[in-house]
Amino acid sequence: IRQSSPPHLLTLADLSPAQINTLIQNALTFKYVFKNLSPRALIPSLDNRTIALLFSKRSTRTRVASETSAQALGGHPMFLGRDDIQLGVNETLEDTARVVGSMVDGIMARVGGHHEVETLAKYSPVPIINALSDLYHPTQILADIMALHEHYAPTPTPPPPAEGEGSHTSVLKYFQSTVDPIKTLKGKKVAWVGDSNNISNELLVTLPRLGMEFSLAAPKGYDKVDERVWNKVTEAGTESLVTLTNSPSEALANADVVVTDTWISMGQEQEKADRIKAFEGYQITNKMVTDAGAKEDWRFLHCLPRKQEEVDDEVFYGPRSLVFPEAENRKWTIMACFE
Ligand code: CP
Ligand code: NVA
Repeated sequence: IRQSSPPHLLTLADLSPAQINTLIQNALTFKYVFKNLSPRALIPSLDNRTIALLFSKRSTRTRVASETSAQALGGHPMFLGRDDIQLGVNETLEDTARVVGSMVDGIMARVGGHHEVETLAKYSPVPIINALSDLYHPTQILADIMALHEHYAPTPTPPPPAEGEGSHTSVLKYFQSTVDPIKTLKGKKVAWVGDSNNISNELLVTLPRLGMEFSLAAPKGYDKVDERVWNKVTEAGTESLVTLTNSPSEALANADVVVTDTWISMGQEQEKADRIKAFEGYQITNKMVTDAGAKEDWRFLHCLPRKQEEVDDEVFYGPRSLVFPEAENRKWTIMACFE
């Protein structure tokens, strides 16, 4: 975890495009070294350090990625689920942040309201990484960017390290000079068809700053972009790269990439019946995307977990789908955040 500015990672909106590029280059390096050379070749930058994983909601990917990443870097991940600690029952977030932060080197937190992760960041003496809030999911979108970059620009094979040079350092240097995710992705159009939620918010504040177009189609009543998110878009001056619509076909026209997510996020289970009704006509299918005039070689992303209602099996398991490399990349990108 970087101690330098910005010490916390609550949304990618707080990182510059250059910082995002660096995180992806580092993630590609971790992936290459771990899989093609040896897990032992990684520099153990978390040696003797502990990262607390403070999760108040369920998780498969984020938890497994964080635990394995901390361990691969020589550190210790400490999982603290909602039933494990005093938080929320006998103790406030402020006190928890002060106390846990006094004993560990970083905290990865999955919370309900975004104000919770902001409170942690305010009182914790160590860096906080947002592992999902109702407003943002930064580590997810890093994995999305990495998966798209790898699809459009397959990773080159680095030369063997120079004498006396460690292979991790050598691969990193090579990727820093040959791999440029922003260059790869500039000008691509990403279409979101689904709920306006934490994942679409994170895409909205990130992709246009990388020079990508982002169009979002959501049904009326589920299309509102939170003011805090829209303020980030206007601060960045990227409105011209953003389209907000209630028409999936308008969003999909000319798209390179199609993305969706569940219509029922964690905590919205009571609204299930209403939502299924409201999202009628929003299920991603090959026919829907082709009829709308997406690019011939369009690709599909989904953060998972996935339900069939938002995307059919043909697309989800089909050759256009990048969802499993995207999921695996949660690990390498979280490792880059921890480093
Ligand atoms: N995409 C994602 O965050 O998955 P989990 O909820 O399983 O961590
Ligand atoms: N929008 C979903 C994302 C899960 C990773 C949720 O918040 O439940």
